[in-house]
Amino acid sequence: MSKLWGGRFTKKTDQLVEEYTASITFDKELAVEDIQGSMAHVSMLGKCGVLPAEDVDTIKNGLQQVLGMIERGELEYTIANEDIHMNIEKTLIDLIGPVGGKLHTGRSRNDQVATDMHLYLRKRVVEFVGLLQKLQEALITQAKANIDTIVPGYTHLQRAQPILLAHHLMAYVSMFGRDIERLQDSYKRINVLPLGAGALAGTTFAIDRHYTAELLGFDGVYENSLDAVSDRDFIVEFLSNASMIMVHLSRLCEEMVLWMSTEFGFIELDDAFCTGSSIMPQKKNPDVAELVRGKTGRVYGNLFGLLTVLKSLPLAYNKDMQEDKEGMFDTVRTLQGALQLFAPMVATMKVNQGRMRQAVNQDFSNATDIADFLVNKGMPFREAHEVIGKTVLYCIQNGKFLLDLTLDEFKQFSELFDDRIYAVLQPEQVVNARNVYGGTATPQVTAAITRAEAKLTET
Ligand code: ARG
Repeated sequence: MSKLWGGRFTKKTDQLVEEYTASITFDKELAVEDIQGSMAHVSMLGKCGVLPAEDVDTIKNGLQQVLGMIERGELEYTIANEDIHMNIEKTLIDLIGPVGGKLHTGRSRNDQVATDMHLYLRKRVVEFVGLLQKLQEALITQAKANIDTIVPGYTHLQRAQPILLAHHLMAYVSMFGRDIERLQDSYKRINVLPLGAGALAGTTFAIDRHYTAELLGFDGVYENSLDAVSDRDFIVEFLSNASMIMVHLSRLCEEMVLWMSTEFGFIELDDAFCTGSSIMPQKKNPDVAELVRGKTGRVYGNLFGLLTVLKSLPLAYNKDMQEDKEGMFDTVRTLQGALQLFAPMVATMKVNQGRMRQAVNQDFSNATDIADFLVNKGMPFREAHEVIGKTVLYCIQNGKFLLDLTLDEFKQFSELFDDRIYAVLQPEQVVNARNVYGGTATPQVTAAITRAEAKLTET
């Protein structure tokens, strides 16, 4: 089979070289975007008078037929045609004859492939914002159902201060909110058209890049033709944003795995989102949460892979850049899988409120509040810290919790104690005392939920 670029060559390509350099096995994923870009390009060529109207019509009809073949899975991709661009162009020429060869006028595969990836990622960004919002909704619903559920809050994975479970869940809503903002911000750099840059220097044809941009719904065109074909920042940025989403998901995964252990017993994930053991009949494993946590690694790997490919790469296009695709596709698939599963997994998660309450009752997470009580009575905080430290030690040595102590026992540590401390030590009181903007008190968390819901409906 003759190559689209065969003119200058006197020999066939080595079979192994052909296999090694081809990208069709993976870049066929850009088929629809490639047609979309070509449609706009050829329309622009017609509008600018570079191609006569009848050629434009013939080519557009041909492209439409190729699209039909792609959609029906009838297009036979070949390694001999190297990549998606040449597979499509070759098929077009086979269908409509030599006029199909006019499609590539004023264009190079370098600006073509960049355009395809901009079109591809633009769709994905919209899709991922939607999926993240679904996850936020599931978290908010759980937060509302648990507006009264008190749970130990941890630092160093040691019980620190009691908080509302709703507050804990809303922390993730904030994290995913930043992920959404980052994706939305990246859109302005993705929604720029490279086409018209040619191979690297522009083109001799009197084309109208802005018109192509308009047809494709891009907000603008690349300023510099060299940059247009060399830039892969927008993919790095996507991989970085994806990595951050995975960081956040992996932290939630870890908490779900811990919380579902017998030792915590705080939650139970629905049967539909767990799997069993082939040997231990009693097992119910939080596999989805574990696997999302594990898949975080490959997304970071893809980010580092592309950064490394681009490092020190001279301008403009280099074949190295073909390596930008597999990691991007893999990241898209990984993220789609994780986000699609996560929202329903959170929505169907059962919360063991009794178990959480039991945990809160059996810990010293109200110790800060009793120190604050002494501070309010005039004791310097450092001194109060010391006094309560000793009180806690006494409790530990005597198998008691703070609420078990009699007033006389309290008074051994400071004369400032009085019977109002029993109210101060109640978990509800401890939680509601933190009535600062962004804090865990019920009115604050309720307000945070309202703000988050408003944000969700406005987008
Ligand atoms: N398959 C190539 C890639 O993905 C398309 C661009 C090829 N350009 C070239 N000058 N060989 O990077």
